[in-house]
Amino acid sequence: MADCWWSSYADVTAALDRVMRPIEEASGLPNEAYVSDEFAEWEQDVLLARSWACIGTGRRVPEAGDAMPLEFAGLPLIMVRGRDDEVRVFHNVCSHRGMLLMEKPARTRGTIRCPYHSWTYDLDGSLRATPMIGGTDSNTCPGFDKAKHGLKPVRSATWFDAVFVNLSGDAEPFESFIAPVAKRWKDFESAPLHHEAIDSSFTLDVACNWKLAVENFCEAYHLPWIHPGLNSYSRLEDHYQIAEEVDGYAGQGSTAYRPQLVENGNGLPVMPGLPARWHGTAEYVALFPTALFGVHADHCFVGTIMPMSPGRTVEHVDLYYFDDEALGDGCAELRQANTALWKGIFLEDRFVVEGMQRGRASPAFRGGVLSPALEHTTHSFYRWAGKRFIEAAKATHNA
Ligand code: FES
Ligand SMILES: [Fe+2]
Repeated sequence: MADCWWSSYADVTAALDRVMRPIEEASGLPNEAYVSDEFAEWEQDVLLARSWACIGTGRRVPEAGDAMPLEFAGLPLIMVRGRDDEVRVFHNVCSHRGMLLMEKPARTRGTIRCPYHSWTYDLDGSLRATPMIGGTDSNTCPGFDKAKHGLKPVRSATWFDAVFVNLSGDAEPFESFIAPVAKRWKDFESAPLHHEAIDSSFTLDVACNWKLAVENFCEAYHLPWIHPGLNSYSRLEDHYQIAEEVDGYAGQGSTAYRPQLVENGNGLPVMPGLPARWHGTAEYVALFPTALFGVHADHCFVGTIMPMSPGRTVEHVDLYYFDDEALGDGCAELRQANTALWKGIFLEDRFVVEGMQRGRASPAFRGGVLSPALEHTTHSFYRWAGKRFIEAAKATHNA
C-alpha cells in the first residue's frame, strides 16, 4: 500500500477543509490531486480500490470464452465471460510463478493457458492442468492440491452491462451501492440491452486526470458554451440537477431531449412499455468513481473512465438500444448518427477537461469556487472524494 500522501491528519483536514464546506464556501480538490504521481498512487489504494469501480462493459467480452486483459488501479486484471454467460474478473497473474496470463483480448476455447509453463485454468478460474509438475512423465505431484491454486478472483458485479469491481474486497454489498440509482431508474430495470458492435462504441484518449472527466460529466452549467448543438434542443434551462443528499452518484437530467438524428425526422424505437414521463426526458449520472450512465427512452450509454496516469484518461463509451429493431439495417443510419452525436459531445468536452488539466500546473489556482446554483453535482463528487481521502488519512495516522 502506498504511503499516505499527507504527512499528518492535520494536513489533510487543512487541505480539504474548504472542499467539505457548504457549496457557497467550497472549493475543489488541490492541484496535486490531479498532477502528482505519488498522489495518484495513493489514490489508487484509498479511492479506486475501495470503491465499486466500473472497469468496462460486458459487451467487450461478448461471447462465452472471451477474455480481455486490462489494468486498473495499477493492477493487471482479466475480464472473462464464462460458459454460464457470467462475466467474472480475475487477477491476471498465474498462480505458479506469477507470469502475466494474457496480454491481449482473446476468444479462448474454454481455458486460459499461461504462456510460461502451460498451466491451464478454466473460465471459472479453477486450475485444470499443470503439465509435468511431477516430472516429465507426470502432470501431478504429491502434496500439490490444484484446488488451492486457481486464479484469484476479484469481487465483481454487472449492472446495465457495466462491470464493477471492488479490489479491496470490503466495500458495501454491491446491491446497496447500486440501490439508489437502481431505484431511480426502476422503469429500465428489465430493459433488454442490445448493442451493435460495429457502430455503437467509441474510445477517446484524453490528456486529463480522470477526476476532471467525472466532474465535467456531472454538471450542465457548461452546456451553452461547450455544446451549442445539444443546447439548441436540450437547453440549460431544461436541465435539473441530480445531487440531493446522495453519497456516491450525481448528475443531471433534461426534460427536452429530442435530437433530430436524420433529416427525415425518423427516430429510434423507444423502449416498449416505458412510462410516458420518460419520453423526451434524459438522465445522466456518474457513479463515483468511474462509471458514467445516460438513459433516454430509446437508448442508453455506459461510459467507463479509465485512469491511466495523473494526466491521462481513456474513456470508453458503449451505446445500447432497448428494442432489437434498432439493430437492423433499417436503423443503421440512425444508430450511426446517434453514436456520432455522442462522440461529438464527448469530443467537445475534451477541450475543457484538457484545459483544466493544464491549468492545474498553475499555483495561482487553488481549487477555485463553485456556482452555488448550478454545480451541486460537481461539489458532491469533490465531497465524495474528500471524505474518503480524509478517512484514509485518519486511519493511517491513527487520528
Ligand atoms: S508461471 Fe504460469 S505456468 Fe509457470
Ligand atoms: Fe459536456
